[in-house]
Amino acid sequence: MSPIAVSRKYSIATMGADGIGPEVVDASVEVLKKLVQVDGGFELDFENFDWSSETYKKTGKYIPDGGLEQLKKHDAILFGAVGAPDVPDHISLWGLRLAICQPFQQYANVRPTKIFRGTSSPLRKAEHGDLDWVIVRENSEGEYAGQGGRSHRGHPWETATEVAIFSRVGVERIIRFAFETAQKRPRKFLTVVTKSNAQRNGMVLWDEVASEVAKDFPDVKWDKMLVDAMTCRMVLDPKSLDTIVATNLHADILSDLAAALAGSIGIAPTSNLDPTRQNPSMFEPIHGSAFDITGKGVANPVGTFWTAAEMLIWLGEEDAARKMMEAVENVTERGISTKDLGGNANTKEVTDAVIQELEKVYLSTPAKKI
Ligand SMILES: NC(=O)c1ccc[n+]([C@@H]2O[C@H](COP(=O)([O-])OP(=O)(O)OC[C@H]3O[C@@H](n4cnc5c(N)ncnc54)[C@H](O)[C@@H]3O)[C@@H](O)[C@H]2O)c1
Repeated sequence: MSPIAVSRKYSIATMGADGIGPEVVDASVEVLKKLVQVDGGFELDFENFDWSSETYKKTGKYIPDGGLEQLKKHDAILFGAVGAPDVPDHISLWGLRLAICQPFQQYANVRPTKIFRGTSSPLRKAEHGDLDWVIVRENSEGEYAGQGGRSHRGHPWETATEVAIFSRVGVERIIRFAFETAQKRPRKFLTVVTKSNAQRNGMVLWDEVASEVAKDFPDVKWDKMLVDAMTCRMVLDPKSLDTIVATNLHADILSDLAAALAGSIGIAPTSNLDPTRQNPSMFEPIHGSAFDITGKGVANPVGTFWTAAEMLIWLGEEDAARKMMEAVENVTERGISTKDLGGNANTKEVTDAVIQELEKVYLSTPAKKI
């Protein structure tokens, strides 16, 4: 170990929550602890929060009184998944995940996708390097704003409304964030996705705001797509895309498609960012609780490893994040992967392989000590 004192210390709230969430978060904490050890330039303090559907069933609440204030003391949140077979999904989602994202104004949801070395895409013609996207999802309003209601329950004339909210401030800040994201990537190319032919109010506002914001980014090329046509372009011409921005609902769906096209939903990460940095940001794999494989020890931890690497980048530890991802990809390249990626390793075997690989990555390129 380096004798040089560590000066960068981050406090991480971990919350595995439900299903395979605790399995993949625990695996990621193991990998992060090893990373801290071999890097030697920064420290991570973990505090575990046991908020989950079990807590909800026992106490009637996912988040205890004063919980958000506790969470706010941390630099970042590493989250697993929420959702249980015996709790309606809208209760669990609004009770925990959205109950953190919304008050913490984590308005930018960032979802990178790529085909890992040693893995294959279900697309016949796409190989490693051919699909390398970042989907930016509006994360605070739109179709998931929570506006609407139900009346005349149980009658044939029962009515329900789900109102999508698009505010100029909400649209402008996410489109600006997406242009900034595209600008930082080598291709400097953004695709703005809407449904502005059929949805003639909110989606037309998106198109107008995109044209206005684009003027501030003359070095970023951009184009527009309708969401239905976008699904075809993602499948038929993945190389034509780079950074993508879309509404809460559209990007939610497109990013699951993106993950599947890259090989598995088990590899894809999400960052829920408060770009103002007034609140901690929350990092999670895009997958859910996966009831069908919970407790079997076979969940793919790679999506949460990548999530943890994105968290480190947000905290300013880019070098360590890059090395962590190099270790993860070296492991997939050697064919050590879970069943969803075509392999036969379990969660622990993949985790142990990444931990061992970290030693090798650091030996071959020693970390720059501060
Ligand atoms: N952010 C979240 O917390 C979040 C996201 C999506 C779904 N959910 C919740 O999760 C529950 C189950 O939802 P779902 O079935 O629609 O989606 P899911 O992502 O949990 O599972 C879909 C399929 O993908 C597989 N899968 C998912 N993650 C995997 C991994 N890491 N390794 C291997 N295979 C994996 C599952 O086994 C399943 O066959 C629901 O309660 C839902 O509301 C939560």
